[in-house]
Amino acid sequence: MKRIVLIISLISGFLFGQQSELKNLKVLPYKTKREVVKFMKSVVAPELGVKCSFCHNMTDYSSDEKDHKKVARQMIAMVQQSNKTMNDLNFHEISCWVCHRGNEHPEHPPKKK
Ligand code: HEC
Ligand code: HEC
Repeated sequence: MKRIVLIISLISGFLFGQQSELKNLKVLPYKTKREVVKFMKSVVAPELGVKCSFCHNMTDYSSDEKDHKKVARQMIAMVQQSNKTMNDLNFHEISCWVCHRGNEHPEHPPKKK
């Protein structure tokens, strides 16, 4: 009996550990940390030309203490919304690059005369 209780608690500990691998995803659809990190490394950071620390507390990636992260979350949601339209039009998906082109701040249109 004791052994069964031990095994059950080990298994649930394992499952719980898996679930809490990602603590604070509100817009991204990913299930694993690996997928999130891949997206961050291949899309978010290079398309804005920034390091992870621009948005993250490097000791706790789930923390929302940096405003850049909060803005980025809204931006991700905006891009997801836009991609519904792109899909309907049978166009290619867009990402941060379309506006940011490797910069923190996209260029604004030239001032009207
Ligand atoms: C421009 C801002 C930005 C940059 C740069 C960035 N991230 Fe993120 N990251 C986010 C946002 C926003 C979320 C939360 C997304 C959501 O709510 O679905 C997130 C979530 C994460 C998470 C999930 C944390 C959790 O448990 O909730 C990890 C891990 C992560 N990022 C790793 C990285 C790594 C590694 C880099 C550098 C290669 C990086 N990020 C660069 C904005 C950024
Ligand atoms: C439709 C154009 C567009 C797209 C697509 C877009 N952004 Fe932005 N983003 C902007 C504009 C415009 C600003 C504000 C710049 C300003 O006012 O100077 C901005 C600002 C930001 C900022 C704030 C930077 C700062 O220094 O405060 C972050 C962070 C950001 N975007 C992240 C992202 C991420 C991550 C993506 C991709 C998931 C993305 N953006 C996609 C247009 C876009």
